[in-house]
Amino acid sequence: MFLSFVANKLIFLVKTKTLKYYSIYFQIMKQITTNDNSITYHNEEYDETYHSTSGAIEEAQKKFVEACEIREFVGKKDNNGKFVHNSISILDVCFGLGYNTAVAIDNILGINPDCKIIVVALENDPTILNEINKLNPKINSFPIIKQLISKLASNNEYEVNLNNIKILLLLDDARETIKTLQNQEIKFNFCFLDPFSPKKCPELWTEEFFKDIFAVMADNSSSPENNSKLATYSCARIVRENLAKAGFTVKDGPIVGRRSPGTIGVKE
Ligand SMILES: C[S@@+](CC[C@H](N)C(=O)[O-])C[C@H]1O[C@@H](n2cnc3c(N)ncnc32)[C@H](O)[C@@H]1O
Repeated sequence: MFLSFVANKLIFLVKTKTLKYYSIYFQIMKQITTNDNSITYHNEEYDETYHSTSGAIEEAQKKFVEACEIREFVGKKDNNGKFVHNSISILDVCFGLGYNTAVAIDNILGINPDCKIIVVALENDPTILNEINKLNPKINSFPIIKQLISKLASNNEYEVNLNNIKILLLLDDARETIKTLQNQEIKFNFCFLDPFSPKKCPELWTEEFFKDIFAVMADNSSSPENNSKLATYSCARIVRENLAKAGFTVKDGPIVGRRSPGTIGVKE
């Protein structure tokens, strides 16, 4: 009896470990349907999902787009009823399936259809990009994401250029690609910071990396409402401390699907 129990345990262990290494080696991605019916994936290496299981699209909408107040930014009008901002630039750190960017584009075009949109996205794993074509989430702009990853434009860069939307995806370690943005003209109004958790992916939550992000965020030109902002789902103390050390003013983000709030970093 005891021996058969031990034997079964051993078989279970071998099976689960083998499956784990097999799926890492052959890059099998396990799909998960989240509570808002949108699909995410489980990453075997990090043993984490790409989105909150409470809702992948909901997370993009609430923890990133609404947290940054993007609708307010592009919807702002002057005394003559004209839009104040005719362009918006977003840095999407850890692009994954591109939900955050696609949901942001939907929101922007829904309010200010002629707004020029520039997104620079950082991602280092082609495996997750390969899953994008298998998905049809309820995001109107998702076909643009599919178009983006349909061909590698040049060495490790994907690019899509439509009428008023430009997306550039840099496929490499974000700690390296962020540095290449420093000498460019573009400065970002918003940053979506969406790595795996600080516990599993500490290298993307450091003071040094946050300083590099801070350096490419737009400087406040006119009023505080135009301050550039970073949004992230984590409220871990180390994350907030490192954001503050990098120069951001740290605030609570929205509470979605769990008890703790996200975090907003404002460049004042
Ligand atoms: C939580 S998921 C992001 C989900 C994504 N924002 C979306 O909407 O689908 C984290 C992502 O970070 C990427 N990643 C991990 N380490 C990275 C690194 N050093 N540089 C760039 N991307 C990285 C992973 O490949 C993964 O796609």
